Amino acid sequence: MAVARCFVNFSPKLKQALAWNLQQRIAESHRLTCCLSHKKHYSSATKSSFDEVYRRSINKPEDFWAEAAQNLVWDKKWKKVLDNSNPPFTRWFVGGELNTCYNAVDRHVEVGNGGQYAIIYDSPVTKHVQKITYRELLKEVSRFAGVLQKLGVKKGDRVLIYMPMIPQAIVAMLATARLGAIHSLVFGGFAARELAVRIEHAKPKVIVSANCGVEPGRIVSYKPMLDGALSQISFRPKACVIYNRPGFEIAPLKRGLDYDYNLEMSDSKMTDCVPVSATDPVYILYTSGTTGQPKAVVRPSGGHAVVLKWSMWNIYGMKPQEVWWAASDLGWVVGHSYICYGPLLNGNTTVLFEGKPVGTPDPGVYFRILKEHNVAGMFLAPTALRAINRDDPEAYYGKKYMPLPIFRAMFVAGEHCDVETMHWAKKAFGCPVLDNWWQTETGWPITSTCVGLGMSLHPTPGVTGKPVPGWNVMVVKQGDKTKEADDVELGDIVVKLPLPPGAFSTLWDNDHRFKHTYFSKIEGYYDTMDSGYRDKDGYIAVMSRTDDVINVAGHRLSTGALEEAITECAEIAEAAVVGVPDSIKGEIPLGLCVRKTGVKLSDEEVVQMVIKHVREAIGPVASFKLAVLVPKLPKTRSGKIARNTIAAMAAGKPFKIPVTIEDESVYPAIKLALQKIGYAKDPQ
Ligand code: COA
Ligand code: AMP
Repeated sequence: MAVARCFVNFSPKLKQALAWNLQQRIAESHRLTCCLSHKKHYSSATKSSFDEVYRRSINKPEDFWAEAAQNLVWDKKWKKVLDNSNPPFTRWFVGGELNTCYNAVDRHVEVGNGGQYAIIYDSPVTKHVQKITYRELLKEVSRFAGVLQKLGVKKGDRVLIYMPMIPQAIVAMLATARLGAIHSLVFGGFAARELAVRIEHAKPKVIVSANCGVEPGRIVSYKPMLDGALSQISFRPKACVIYNRPGFEIAPLKRGLDYDYNLEMSDSKMTDCVPVSATDPVYILYTSGTTGQPKAVVRPSGGHAVVLKWSMWNIYGMKPQEVWWAASDLGWVVGHSYICYGPLLNGNTTVLFEGKPVGTPDPGVYFRILKEHNVAGMFLAPTALRAINRDDPEAYYGKKYMPLPIFRAMFVAGEHCDVETMHWAKKAFGCPVLDNWWQTETGWPITSTCVGLGMSLHPTPGVTGKPVPGWNVMVVKQGDKTKEADDVELGDIVVKLPLPPGAFSTLWDNDHRFKHTYFSKIEGYYDTMDSGYRDKDGYIAVMSRTDDVINVAGHRLSTGALEEAITECAEIAEAAVVGVPDSIKGEIPLGLCVRKTGVKLSDEEVVQMVIKHVREAIGPVASFKLAVLVPKLPKTRSGKIARNTIAAMAAGKPFKIPVTIEDESVYPAIKLALQKIGYAKDPQ
């Protein structure tokens, strides 16, 4: 009775949180019972449940997502689950209000889970491990929200975060979301100019950065990069908050602009969550398109929180309180969704790893993390597996950590995973290795093996799973986009509208580009710009991009942006960039450059200058180390560079010269130049 009376006095928000917690515990005990009886981990689902759940998500999307949304705490319930009256500007949970930070942090503390670890920060590059409970995280986040608020950040303002893989980066993300502001993270491997372009476009009120990042063998000085970026543009943020990592050179602060993170935190007050509309952005994130123009996807708060929470069990089979590790960077979409928000919304412990698959200190480090931190599920890019395989094919360094009794499954994404790598990883780590396909735009997987929904843990090798509930995927013929491709026929992959919750709702400051870039190929469909096929069992394989985007070590790069950087060199008249196969990174960029007449430098000097300039302009992330000089580029009569023919020639694959090529006599000279650097080999 006393308990009941006490419950009556609780706020509606706390009641929702408690009800959710109770539901989780009931579901948990059900799963545990199933686990015991089936001696399997993902056994609360039956084989038929995936098909049934998928059908319901497509036929009754409103009921389906409204049910999933009940697993969050809302400040105000939505009036309408789906408003699709103005496609492609789909709006989910219209009228609803919530705070993402509350759902990711406060809620767990309020229901009594404050003592659980929220973050395990493992940094082999600094030889440091730190475990942070939800209670500690709440304190840090709400105080940093106070810092941002004092600097003038309000609901809807942008906060740009340019930081290495340290807990303070997650704190800055959550604190921004706490105030209902919008964060924009920039990956540390970008150079000052790329940072400048993003700052100018996002117009952040505050920038949060650090003195440095630590890459194997070198310190990456973030603060000079930030200063350099600001010196290139006229836009000024109101303030820059700089976190000085202990043990490294302290970044000098500029009076009137820069603020010291620790100093500001020392007298900051705990600051409460600001509810936002479900359709308000929680973040924007820049990604590569076909040109160098900045393009930032807008992630709506409500749909984002609903689907990420939903995906942790249904796709990845993660129960609350288990340890999850996404070995990516917070600056990429994977880092947003599955290092920060997904696991925290689900009440998991998330591993924040500052290191590399090899060399920090050896190829056993991934095995160590899995064992030492009792990781149950992980996410990584195939490049990381290829790097471990290259350095330690027998997984000798990992053996001392085997077996991994808690570890259940490894999920790969970000780039095509070759079957050989997948087989190797299965054997080395002793678990299923499951591919899933998604994009910055989608924010969560379009296709996957949904282990929580009972899908087979042994899909046909080479596929990326089946369309995930919510994603109505079609593969259309490349010649006739009105028709579906036949089984196993290569086609363009599109998704029928409406896109599910959590997908991007527009491009920041550019509704027009959003509509015309992604939705004009076939009316009523989202163009993924990926090609692939569907097999007879409904599995999807994703093969390559249909636009001028290449994928280097799971990093998406615009060939257009690289070409722009090359032609900035005074010696170069024009350039074409294509992706060529690489045994570790999947693909690497290759630049074909036409030198200007009258340039006095030797060919080798020009090539080295181009490589140096691209690294300075775009950043090390481009991995731009291959360039050749050619007399002319192959162009169509309308002036378009025939990149696909260059890429095929470089890879030693057969190709047809399009009839529209203006001058086909350019090809022999290109072939010769490529052969000199070991490409364009004749087929054996
Ligand atoms: N700050 C500064 N420089 C960075 C950086 C950072 N945060 N991250 C990478 N770099 C640098 C590297 O040091 C390297 O420099 P180098 O040319 O001097 O050697 C260069 O950028 C290329 O890095 P990368 O290709 O990423 O190789 P890596 O050895 O640093 O990392 C992986 C290998 C596999 C860990 C990394 O490529 C990775 O995590 N890829 C997956 C990304 C992902 O999750 N994609 C999913 C889609 S969002
Ligand atoms: P990004 O937006 O940086 O995450 O890159 C998205 C692109 O990476 C997709 O459009 C695909 O081309 C590629 N990609 C992501 N996941 C996969 C996968 N599992 N298989 C093949 N390609 C993938």
